[in-house]
Amino acid sequence: MSDVRRVTVTGERPYDVVIGRNLLAELPATLGKSVRRVLVVHPAALATTADAVIEDLRAHGYETFGAEVPDAEEAKTAQVAAFLWGVLGQADFTRSDAIVAVGGGATTDLGGFVAATWLRGIQVVQVPTTVLAMVDAAVGGKTGINTAEGKNLVGAFHPPAAVLCDLAALESMQPFDFVAGLAEIVKAGFIADPRILELVEGHVDLLKDPVAAARSEVLLELVERAVVVKAEVVGEDLKEAGLREILNYGHTFGHAIEHVERYQWRHGAAVSVGMVYVAELARLAGRLPDDVVARHRAVLTSLGLPTTYRGDRWERLLAAMRRDKKTRGDLLRFVVLEGIGKPVRLEGPDPTLLAAAYAEIAEGATSSTAISL
Ligand SMILES: NC(=O)c1ccc[n+]([C@@H]2O[C@H](COP(=O)([O-])OP(=O)(O)OC[C@H]3O[C@@H](n4cnc5c(N)ncnc54)[C@H](O)[C@@H]3O)[C@@H](O)[C@H]2O)c1
Repeated sequence: MSDVRRVTVTGERPYDVVIGRNLLAELPATLGKSVRRVLVVHPAALATTADAVIEDLRAHGYETFGAEVPDAEEAKTAQVAAFLWGVLGQADFTRSDAIVAVGGGATTDLGGFVAATWLRGIQVVQVPTTVLAMVDAAVGGKTGINTAEGKNLVGAFHPPAAVLCDLAALESMQPFDFVAGLAEIVKAGFIADPRILELVEGHVDLLKDPVAAARSEVLLELVERAVVVKAEVVGEDLKEAGLREILNYGHTFGHAIEHVERYQWRHGAAVSVGMVYVAELARLAGRLPDDVVARHRAVLTSLGLPTTYRGDRWERLLAAMRRDKKTRGDLLRFVVLEGIGKPVRLEGPDPTLLAAAYAEIAEGATSSTAISL
């Protein structure tokens, strides 16, 4: 497979998301001519990839530095950001220099945030190495770190100069992490692109194997299509004025699960349950036909993603949903579907409806749609 796909994200400063294999050669061109120094930020798990990036940039004449940061969420702290500001300061990085972030969404969020804040903004090229980061975290310009009080509470909107999605990087992913990332691709299918759902449904076995999937045209097309969905939304609405909300499909309930589980659940797994929850909510509200709800369960289950959650957590989940930063005032807001590709906002649904939807996904409950599968 030597195909390379490009998706342009429009906006004040348009940029390309490049999807393919072995994309290193693309990097110098994305940095442009004024850049002299580059800081490559990466976790230990991606050291080999980062070393190759560093070597390549040096060969192209850039003064290149590497900074290893802690793994996953441990990287998204003020301390790690301060460490990187220190590295940039010591190496005299100017406003025309750049950061390249190589890693999962945690690394791209951190790298983007440090780029947004150094000298009030230098360019960042994102090199995402997880499915989630390729189709979600690294695209769209949201960057941030966590504080003791919560996730992503400090951040900035800072679109990248480019995003390079090298599918070869995915071959080393753990299978369940890989599949959890597919939940965001399935989400893009439900909110905007039915072809995604057909592709997933037609290639379930392939998609459960990270190595085979990463070498396939199917994943190339899925990542491209999911990026197109995100690009079209963020191109029109960088700062979440409205349209961008549809990307939160399944996320209000998903975030609540993550909160109740103290972030020990994978994001994609929580969003998977969250999508079935809002599908049930829409069905109970008379908005969504049974077969579309059944399709949610079928496609997510076939990938090995969860579609149920323990039945004794309603009060805590409800409290967590009320605290979600997407809530406006006291009104709970959900993105629900009126059909595939037809997302709408549902504000302040009746509390009995909310609880009834929970009963449909609660473990031990008998769900009419689950039985019909
Ligand atoms: N900015 C946004 O719009 C946005 C959107 C969604 C999620 N996020 C953020 O993204 C983060 C989650 O992203 P994630 O799921 O990529 O997690 P992650 O960055 O924590 O990576 C998960 C694990 O996979 C490892 N890893 C990464 N690439 C690998 C590879 N190719 N092979 C083997 N191991 C690899 C990492 O070292 C880590 O241990 C969260 O912090 C979330 O808040 C941001």
